[in-house]
Amino acid sequence: MTKPDVLYVSKPNAEWWRTAVIYQIYPRSFADGNGDGMGDLQGVTARLESLQELGIDAIWFSPFFKSPQKDAGYDVSDYKDIDPLFGNLADFDALLTRAHSLGLRIIVDLVPNHTSDQHEWFQAALKAGKGSPERDMYIFREGRGLFKNKAPNNWPSVFGGSQWTRVIEPNGKKGQWYLHIFDSSQPDLNWKNPPVRDEFDNILRFWLDRGVDGFRIDVAHGMIKREGLPNTKQFSTEMGGVKSEGDMTIEELEVANPYWGQPEVHDINRRWRKIIDSYNDRAMAAEAWISGPLERMARWVRPDEYNQTFNFGYMFAGWTKAAQIKSIEDSFTAFGAVGAPSTWVLSNHDTIRHVTRYGMVGELPQGDGIGPDYEQPDEALGLRKGRANTAFMLGLPGGAYIYQGEELGLPEHTTLEGKYRQDPTYFRTKGKRVGRDGCRVPLPWEAGANQSNGFSSNGASWLPQPESYKSYSRDAQRGVAGSTLELYKQLLKVRKEQGLGGGDFRWAPELSDEQSLAFVNNGVAVVANFGPDAVILPAGELLVTTQHDLRVEGELQQDQVAWIKLS
Ligand code: NOJ
Repeated sequence: MTKPDVLYVSKPNAEWWRTAVIYQIYPRSFADGNGDGMGDLQGVTARLESLQELGIDAIWFSPFFKSPQKDAGYDVSDYKDIDPLFGNLADFDALLTRAHSLGLRIIVDLVPNHTSDQHEWFQAALKAGKGSPERDMYIFREGRGLFKNKAPNNWPSVFGGSQWTRVIEPNGKKGQWYLHIFDSSQPDLNWKNPPVRDEFDNILRFWLDRGVDGFRIDVAHGMIKREGLPNTKQFSTEMGGVKSEGDMTIEELEVANPYWGQPEVHDINRRWRKIIDSYNDRAMAAEAWISGPLERMARWVRPDEYNQTFNFGYMFAGWTKAAQIKSIEDSFTAFGAVGAPSTWVLSNHDTIRHVTRYGMVGELPQGDGIGPDYEQPDEALGLRKGRANTAFMLGLPGGAYIYQGEELGLPEHTTLEGKYRQDPTYFRTKGKRVGRDGCRVPLPWEAGANQSNGFSSNGASWLPQPESYKSYSRDAQRGVAGSTLELYKQLLKVRKEQGLGGGDFRWAPELSDEQSLAFVNNGVAVVANFGPDAVILPAGELLVTTQHDLRVEGELQQDQVAWIKLS
């Protein structure tokens, strides 16, 4: 069993982002204010009170900037304007004012690694031709081979296929190739070129001046490519096999994946942190899928870099006792070593919803969804485990993220037909990987109000909801004891009342047995039962539990969690 040492000591008067619960809104799917089937800013503003009631501290918005929507807004064609699908700048200002008046902070999603191919910078680069300063905003190269018809290197796109696309030059002939880690509609910017850095300084200031409380930075580990754009590389084990990423050193990882986590990225982090700190009380969070030891990811949150980074290790740790111990200990150790809070997160718009993952026998790779032909999850089991993990996670000190709909216990849409799919992954892999649409389905608000359960006034919905969403609707759960919505509300309320976000953490082996796991945070014991036998709870005041019928000193059942104020 683990040591009873205090693993995390909070900072007195900690800045808001060290303890905040941040709710992710995926604008397309939160609430539709104008009946076009697409969520929008006015729809969000009209529903903001439900988030205040939920008890969150801040909202992170996935992108709502001008975009051809080839990757659901992660392909930006104007960083300083709102896409008409979602409204306009006046709608945004109204939303921000309303959110602030309700005590909710707003974080926007900045996408600096790549633009849309419709961005004026890229259009200018195409027109200007080889060797021009316009092309130098992006990463253009000659192809390989006699006819230059082979991609400049072997880098694979995250969405399938190659990272390179060949352009037609202004003279009408096939010419250079441009790099795109993601879809061909998302050309990568050349962050080694100073004008790119200057442009983004302005973009940051544009939104900070407008009053946003911070940024979530997309692909915060991808902006710098290794000098010379060398091919990806494999390393051999002593036995002559291929080393897995988990066995590589940080230096090997930097060579193996020449476009992820290159050391020069940290200069950009520091440049932005200076801007952030020149404003009052703002923060930035890195989306950095950094493989290797957690110490590597922690480099993104050194004191002069990001304030927070998403803890993807915890997201995929899994709901077992051993996995929770390891991931939590590693997180406190790695982030603590650089003076950063850990963040905790289980779901987002890129991953299969955690209640569904926990209902699956095997784990699917990140970025892949579940299709109608796949083995289907056990919904009840997934929900039980998912609620338990959330209750365990929200008892931990640090920042926490909640993805819209998880407060309803919403499962992934696992039977979405191909004809509805929009994720570029689906198209680039010819349907082999179904992609991420299943976690992006519009939210149900009022059960049976119409076909989209009140997502829009007329039932329109850009992706259809599965039949089961009706029973998960917010109004069907509101005020209903034991519902997932009321559980989340209770967890967030008690977390605040007991100061758990900024508390001190120690494992409590004296409160658990072989199959259960307990920790104490600010005098509150958080106990989870992973095993089949019921566990007797310690004496104290029962503050909140996933097990609706649980009484003090009662028996905690499998995959249930209780928070107890120790007497
Ligand atoms: C990460 C975002 O979360 C994801 O949705 C997007 O497709 C890629 N970055 C590319 O921007």
